[in-house]
Parts: sequence; C-alpha cells; structure tokens
Amino acid sequence: MRFGALDEIYTRRLALRRTRRGDLDDYVRLFRDPRVAATLGPARSAAQTAEIVENAIAHWQEHGFGLWTARDRPSGAFVGRGGLRKAMVEGRSEVEVAYALTPEYWGRGLATELAIESVRAAFAELQLAELVCFTTPANRASQRVMEKAGFRYERDITHADLPHVLYRHTQQAWEAGI
Ligand SMILES: CC(C)(COP(=O)(O)OP(=O)(O)OC[C@H]1O[C@@H](n2cnc3c(N)ncnc32)[C@H](O)[C@@H]1OP(=O)(O)O)[C@@H](O)C(=O)NCCC(=O)NCCS
Repeated sequence: MRFGALDEIYTRRLALRRTRRGDLDDYVRLFRDPRVAATLGPARSAAQTAEIVENAIAHWQEHGFGLWTARDRPSGAFVGRGGLRKAMVEGRSEVEVAYALTPEYWGRGLATELAIESVRAAFAELQLAELVCFTTPANRASQRVMEKAGFRYERDITHADLPHVLYRHTQQAWEAGI
C-alpha cells in the first residue's frame, strides 16, 4: 500500500481525515464533554487533549495509519474521531479499532459506519490479519458497534487497571463475509 493512501477517505456520510493540529479545538470539546467522559474515562483538560492529538499525529508518522477526524459530509461539522491504533493488550501488540463521537451525532449509525471503514482499511488496504476492539462491560453501545462491524467477543481482560471485554475480527472472517 502506498504510504499516505489512508490520509483522507470517505464513507457515505463521513469525511475521514488523518488527525491534524488544526483539529485540536474540536477534540478539546469532545474530550471535556461529560457524556463522552462517562464511558471514555475522566474529562480531559486542553493540555491533555493536546497530548492526545500529538500522539495521534506521531502514530500516523510512524505507522502510515491511525485515527481519523470524522466530519459530516458535506457540512464539514466535527462528528468525532476514530480509526486504527496500535495497542498493548495484556502484553501482546495488537491493532485496535477505536471511536468516540460527539453526543449530538449518537444513535445514527455513524460509529458503526466509521468502524466498518476502519475494518475495511485494515484488512483490504493494510493486509492486517487481525483486529481487536475493547471497552468496559457496561458500554453496551460500543459492544453493539463492534458486533455490527463484524467483531466477536473473545474474552474478559484487564486494561488500564479496569475490567474490559475484548472483541476480535479476522481478515479471514471479513473476506468470507461472516
Ligand atoms: C459508543 C458510541 C461510539 C456509539 O456511537 P453511535 O454513533 O451512537 O453508534 P451507532 O449508532 O453506530 O450504534 C449504536 C448501537 O448501540 C445500541 N445502543 C445504544 N445504547 C445502548 C445501550 N445502552 N444498550 C444496548 N445497546 C445500545 C444502539 O441501539 C445501536 O444498535 P442498533 O443499530 O442495533 O440499534 C458513542 O456513544 C460514543 O462515542 N460514546 C463515547 C465514547 C465511547 O464510549 N467510545 C467507545 C469506547 S470503547
């Protein structure tokens, strides 16, 4: 795959673009929102969010894939962020699908649209063999997104000192359409 091919891609309703410093204000609003913090961990300060953005930029530079900023087509309004990210899960290096949307856009299938595109990019473009996705047991909406994107429950894990449920998807299952 050409390095940079995933920098900007489109789904039916979303424009996905590699995270940039210019996205910071939108990210600050997202990560300080108590409704998002309720499942994603404590609300972040502007400085903490700046670090999140820098990490996302560095991830793209190192790996050629990463988290996108998701904007509504065609208005360009900020919808959230999500995509692919390297993660250590119980000592094993994995690639995860991650997503967090602005509450105004919840309940429209947009996280699922983003997750499905992330899966396609991972298996069709990057030729990854496997992907994981994980969340806390209480985050049923996130688990539903995983299921709709083709992930299957694998096991309970501890991540960041908290109980999580781990879901997995494989290129083989994706190609077979199961
Ligand atoms: C979790 C999140 C990404 C879902 O985004 P979304 O765009 O609303 O998701 P979708 O509309 O694509 O799908 C949500 C699904 O969960 C279901 N759902 C929502 N709340 C639910 C609940 N409390 N219990 C069970 N299912 C629930 C919806 O009905 C829908 O399933 P359906 O299509 O079968 O009806 C969004 O709420 C979010 O960004 N939350 C904050 C950050 C976060 O928790 N990220 C995930 C961390 S792992």
